[in-house]
Amino acid sequence: MFCINKRKFFKLLPKSEKGMEEMCGIIGKVGEENVIPQLINGLKKLEYRGYDSAGVAFVEDDIINRVRAVGKISELKKKLSQEVIESRVGIGHTRWATHGSPTEENAHPHRSKNGMFYIVHNGIIENSEEIKKNLLPYNLDFESGTDTEVFAHLLEKYYDGEPVSAIAKAQAVLKGSYAFGLICKDYPDVIFGAASGSPLVVVKGENGFYIASDSGAIDEKTVEKYSVSCGEICKITSSAAEFFDPSGKAIKKQREDSQNSEDSFEKEGYAHFMLKEISEQPRAVKDTLDSLISLGGVWLPHVNIDEDFFSEILEKIVIVACGSAYHTGLVAKHIIEKLTGVPCAVEIASEFRYSHPFIDEKTLAIFVSQSGETADTLACLRLAKHCGAQIISIVNVRGSAIAKESDNVIFTKAGREIAVATTKAYSAQLAAFYALSIFIGREKGKLSEEQEEKYIEELSLLPQKIKETLETVNENAKKFAQKICKWDKVFFMGRLTDYATACEGSLKLKEISYINAQSYASGELKHGTISLVEEGTPMIAVLGESKIFSKTLSNICEVESRGAQVIVITDIAKENLLSGNRTVISVPDTLSEFRQSLLVLPLQLISYYTALLRGCDIDQPKNLAKSVTVE
Ligand code: F6R
Repeated sequence: MFCINKRKFFKLLPKSEKGMEEMCGIIGKVGEENVIPQLINGLKKLEYRGYDSAGVAFVEDDIINRVRAVGKISELKKKLSQEVIESRVGIGHTRWATHGSPTEENAHPHRSKNGMFYIVHNGIIENSEEIKKNLLPYNLDFESGTDTEVFAHLLEKYYDGEPVSAIAKAQAVLKGSYAFGLICKDYPDVIFGAASGSPLVVVKGENGFYIASDSGAIDEKTVEKYSVSCGEICKITSSAAEFFDPSGKAIKKQREDSQNSEDSFEKEGYAHFMLKEISEQPRAVKDTLDSLISLGGVWLPHVNIDEDFFSEILEKIVIVACGSAYHTGLVAKHIIEKLTGVPCAVEIASEFRYSHPFIDEKTLAIFVSQSGETADTLACLRLAKHCGAQIISIVNVRGSAIAKESDNVIFTKAGREIAVATTKAYSAQLAAFYALSIFIGREKGKLSEEQEEKYIEELSLLPQKIKETLETVNENAKKFAQKICKWDKVFFMGRLTDYATACEGSLKLKEISYINAQSYASGELKHGTISLVEEGTPMIAVLGESKIFSKTLSNICEVESRGAQVIVITDIAKENLLSGNRTVISVPDTLSEFRQSLLVLPLQLISYYTALLRGCDIDQPKNLAKSVTVE
């Protein structure tokens, strides 16, 4: 049944949920001692939200100063170290540019004309041009090309000595999504904040109060934590926090679970977070599976769907995600269809949300997201809910928007992932899909108890096999990286689930090494792409699907006879594959349903070592951010 209410649904959404959002990180602290070190550490931890430019504004002797720099937090730190700063009140920002290029003028904090307000902003003000035209003096000189600056001027316009009421009046005219932090010159011991549609938390530390986009950015032990949302306003001093509704009326807020995250923000001796996270995969997969498998059966603690739905109603499964998370869906489709007998479609979220999705109450819609904040995936989740589908989301970050808005969640236990290129969350997502496929297979009556036992037994061996693979393929991956690092283009191929892994391998390589890497379903090569193959062209073939082994092998021979240097990533006996110049990287054997968890590992390592040889910024590749909250 076509979901006819989609249009109506979009009309009902607040504009911010339809539009773009700037992906930045904000932090602010009022303490008893100098806050600059904590602002810098916090911004460093928020760099996953963007790293085009950064800045701080702080109060010293009742005067507000500002320091900003283009590039990463390290550039801002260099600038700040040239001055001796003692400040107990400060706000900071790290930016991923959407409105205005990444210059110092466009870096936050922005200020109002007379310098009464300094503000940092995460989000997007969709009607900034309208506000400029209709509400601000026509001859106002803007210092930046950002939408944010408009809000600073609006605050000054509405300010009559009371910042909370100025914030309430200014945000009443905004369209878009935002989390603001701001300092007002008349109140040098206070930070104010407001948020709607973008995350903002207030945290009481052991040594003062903070506002931040993510409580993980805060260095101190969390004593109390509150979320600010839906236009609420907050006011923090070094010893207290107050909250107000969007109109500026004081409200009481409920404290949230303030358990400190034990996830490390340190590289712990590894050269890069990506390498550390690659090596954490056995643990990430084990923890994920342990949380979903108990007493020899799959148990999904945060899924509450009537048994009848699976046995009587379910007709179709659709998986929606972006990037690597989408690739886990491509793998999962084949396993789900095999284990449950239910047709499964896999959709790119940014396409799906504007297509004509056939989803209804007989559909199970699965949303996959590491961050749980990806704007397109979130929009599709809302759409599917509106159409009456049952929802299960596979999410790594607890408390994220997708986790909060999903009726049913499978939490992956990858732990905090810091490298922009996902590895351990990817593996944990695959593990979650294996458990989910078995669960649905059993509920649907398609899998017997014996089959379930067989799968669970093999899954219990998977973390160890991942560890073994990482150890045994490491040297080969380094060697192969040397071969490909000088090439401008690299091809990947595979069929069925091998194709999904080829897609993930090529994405990983291109995003961190900047080599143009493309993946193809093996059978498609001779429909065009093979014309690009020349003497020496690197071609990485993923070959695990034994039922089409001979087909992919023929495709390998075809490109080799046109000069390609082929590396085969496989769990099939090496003797059947060695020939000529071909390189073969072998991974251990497992059940066919789970093999992509092993085949993907050499590809992660090849990408890592290739990027290393090319001198790339592995953890923070150019133009990217970890959490994609823009449409
Ligand atoms: C690639 C990568 C991205 C993400 C994608 C979705 O290494 O990490 O392609 O997979 O941006 O992000 P999440 O999973 O946070 O929704």
